[in-house]
Amino acid sequence: MSTSPLVKFPALSQVCLKCIRCESTFDTAQNLYTCEKCGDLLDVSYEWNSRLVSDYRKLFDTRRASANPLDISGVWRFRELLPFYTSESQIVTMFEGNTAMFDAPRSAQYAGLRQLRLKHQGLNPTGSFKDNGMTTGTTQANRMRARAVACASTGNTSASMAAYAARAGMKGIVFIPGGQIAYGKLSQSMDYGAVTLQIDGDFDAAMSIVQEIARETDIYLLNSINPFRLEGQKTIAFEMLQQLQWQVPDRVVLPGGNLGNSSAIGKGLKEMYSLGVIDRLPKITIIQAEGASPLAQYWSSPSGTPFKSVEKATTLATAIKIGNPVSWAKAIRALEWTNGTCISVSEQEIADAKAMIGRDGIGCEPASATTVAGIRKMVAAGQMDPDEVVVGILTGNVLKDPDYTIQYHLGELYQKSERRTEIVKADSPLHSTFANQPIQVAADKKEIYKVLEHILAEEHNN
Ligand code: F0G
Repeated sequence: MSTSPLVKFPALSQVCLKCIRCESTFDTAQNLYTCEKCGDLLDVSYEWNSRLVSDYRKLFDTRRASANPLDISGVWRFRELLPFYTSESQIVTMFEGNTAMFDAPRSAQYAGLRQLRLKHQGLNPTGSFKDNGMTTGTTQANRMRARAVACASTGNTSASMAAYAARAGMKGIVFIPGGQIAYGKLSQSMDYGAVTLQIDGDFDAAMSIVQEIARETDIYLLNSINPFRLEGQKTIAFEMLQQLQWQVPDRVVLPGGNLGNSSAIGKGLKEMYSLGVIDRLPKITIIQAEGASPLAQYWSSPSGTPFKSVEKATTLATAIKIGNPVSWAKAIRALEWTNGTCISVSEQEIADAKAMIGRDGIGCEPASATTVAGIRKMVAAGQMDPDEVVVGILTGNVLKDPDYTIQYHLGELYQKSERRTEIVKADSPLHSTFANQPIQVAADKKEIYKVLEHILAEEHNN
C-alpha cells in the first residue's frame, strides 16, 4: 500500500470491471476479458474519492526525484490512478515509461506545423509502448497467480510480454503471424525465452485463436482486450502532460492498429479531466495505414454506418497490419470524448515521414511514422492549424525493423515483393525520396578523402 502522506488508496470495493455497453460490473479478481452478460469490452473502473488527494501534480512531480523503483517507473509513478492491485509485491516493473519527448523541427517543417513534439515510446525497455501496458498486465497476472501468459502479436506485444513474463518467472507463449513480423521483434521473443508459435495466417487469425485458448485453459491473456493492459498504457498521457508541465496540448496524434493504445490514452485523459488534474482535453487523432484502416473508413462514412472490419489488411508497417481491431468501440469512444478524428495515409506517405523523423535524429519504426504522415496530410487539407500545439506518439524504436529502413534507403522498398535472401519478384516500387545510401569505398585514405571532398562540396553548393 502507498506510503505517501498526501494520498490514501481508495478501498478495493471502489474498483471493478465494467462493461462499456451494458455497464454490468464484475470483481477485478475474476478472470474475465469480456462482459459475461453481453460479450462487449470491459474497463477497469474506479470511483475515486478525490478529496483524499490534495495535489496530484505535486505528488507526481515530487516522485521524479525519488529512488523508490515504483516512483522511477513512468507507469507506477502514477499508481494512485491505477489502484487495482492489492499489494506492491505483485508489481512487475522494468522501469518502463520515462520516455523522452523531443522537439522535432525538421519533421514539423515537413508536416507544415510551426512546432512539433514527438514522445518516443520506442525508448522503453523492449523498444515499444507495449511495456507501459505489460507492466500492469503482468502485475494483474501475478495477482491472479498465472503461471503462463499468452498473446497474439504483430511483434511488439510479443517482445514485451516475453520480457515481462521472464522477469515475473512465468511462461510466455506468443502467437505471431508466420513470416509477417519484423526480425527485431521476432528475435526479442526468442531471446527472452518465450514459446514462439508462428501461425499460418494473419494477426486477426492469431488473435482469434489465442482468445479461444485463453477461454478454454488457465493461460492468462495479455492482449489489449485485457483491460489491465490499457491501465498502464493510459499513463503515456499522464507522463506526456507531466513533461509539458501539465499544459494540455491541442492534439495527441498516434497510430492505430488494434486500437488499444488510443483507447487507453483516451481513458487516461478523461480520468485526469474528471479528477480536475487538467481543465480541457486534447483531440485524439488516430492515423491508420490505408490498407488497414477500418476505423478511418468508419469515421469518414455517413453517421449510422456500422463499423466494418477490413477483410485482408495490407501494409508494410507490419505492426498495424490489422483488419479487425479488438478495441474499435473504445477507440470511437475516445474520439467522441475528445472531439478527435481518424484518417489514413498511404505507404508512400508513411515511408517518407519515417525518413524525415530519422533526419531529426530520432527515428522510429514504420507504424510510428503514420503520425507525421497524418499530420502533414491534415495540415495540407486545412484540417489542422499550423499553430496547433501537437504531440505525436512514436510507438516503436527504429531498430525494430531495420530491413524496412535499409530497403527504403537503397531504393528497394516495394509494396508487394517476395524475398528469399534476395528479391525474387517485385512490383509497385515506392520512391525512396530521402534515400541515404552507404558508399562503397576502398580501404585507402586518399580515396576516402576524395569521396568526402566531393560530398562536402556538393552539400556546400546546395
Ligand atoms: N505502433 C506500433 C509500433 C505497434 O506495435 C502497434 C501495435 C501500434 C502502433 C498500434 O497500436 O494496436 O494499440 O492500436 N502493435 C500490436 C502488437 C498489435 O501486437 O505488437 P494499437
